Amino acid sequence: MTDLGKLGFGTWAMGGPYTFGGEPVGWGPADDAESRKALRRAFELGVTLFDTADSYGCGHAETLVGQAFADVRDQVVIATKWGFTFDAATRRMTGSDGSVGHLRRAVEGSLRRLGTDRIDLYQLHLGDLGLDEAALLRDECERLVTEGKIRSYGWSTDDPERARFFTQLEHGVAAQADINVLFDNPGMYTGEYAVLCRRPLAMGLLARETFDVLPPDDVRVTNPAWLRFFVDGRPSPEYFAAREAVRDVLTSGGRTLVQGALAWFWARSPRLVPIPGVRTVAQAEENAAALEFGPLTPEQLAQVESVLR
Ligand SMILES: NC(=O)c1ccc[n+]([C@@H]2O[C@H](COP(=O)([O-])OP(=O)(O)OC[C@H]3O[C@@H](n4cnc5c(N)ncnc54)[C@H](OP(=O)(O)O)[C@@H]3O)[C@@H](O)[C@H]2O)c1
Repeated sequence: MTDLGKLGFGTWAMGGPYTFGGEPVGWGPADDAESRKALRRAFELGVTLFDTADSYGCGHAETLVGQAFADVRDQVVIATKWGFTFDAATRRMTGSDGSVGHLRRAVEGSLRRLGTDRIDLYQLHLGDLGLDEAALLRDECERLVTEGKIRSYGWSTDDPERARFFTQLEHGVAAQADINVLFDNPGMYTGEYAVLCRRPLAMGLLARETFDVLPPDDVRVTNPAWLRFFVDGRPSPEYFAAREAVRDVLTSGGRTLVQGALAWFWARSPRLVPIPGVRTVAQAEENAAALEFGPLTPEQLAQVESVLR
């Protein structure tokens, strides 16, 4: 069975700029050399799970992950996603496709960009897809396991029913959901599956001390409908106030705010695997060092929960 460990790193921002429906959906410019160094530093520090998607930078993030780990492929766990369509040449996402035919095409594309013969965790990226279509994809994923192209699969969805449905067969092992100390979704982690927690740092709100002007093509600036932690590139006042209310508990014992935010997951449930997005070596080092501090104590967790919920 795929061992996901306690911490993984996300690679959305490493994909660089790309658009969907004319709107930027990346995190502004990315520095490829720094991205590869950050991934490699994470590995040296004991982080082995890396989350990406075929759509991040229209294939670019997968390419970087493949390059960074080409010589240590067997020692890392690569999680990627399928479901959106895109044009790599123009860096435009073009739509979504929940068909079995697209799954078959997508897996070959990801294997090629990642430079590998198998994907360790393959995740359905379309969070709201109907269960009838998902049932066909689930069966096809079992076939892909038998063929050796993937090792396991899961669904990136915030809906516990969908997550349970997709993990009913033998190799369905994980969901991926928006969960962090400021925005919990406990319904997602009552099942038998692991949960990769996306946006664990509230897209940087739980990491940054100062908020400079973000580039205009950063998704935190463009205000997509689902964005909750930032408004016009500034922290949402509501979530910023919540962060300040728990700052002292999270940073007790010498942890930085990031390290406290990650420690919350490990105290909350053994099923949770935060996957903070990183772009730089410095971020990789700070985030990986959270492992040394371990979980918040039960008392610290209770304090956080009593303040926020
Ligand atoms: N639908 C989906 O399936 C889905 C959706 C969202 C995310 N994801 C996955 O989940 C991963 C994590 O989510 P996310 O990247 O959206 O949000 P996140 O992990 O909450 O925040 C990541 C951002 O926080 C900042 N950061 C990280 N470590 C830092 C540090 N030590 N110090 C200062 N700033 C730091 C960086 O942004 P700056 O450097 O720009 O401040 C980084 O890009 C993604 O990379 C992706 O793999 C999946």
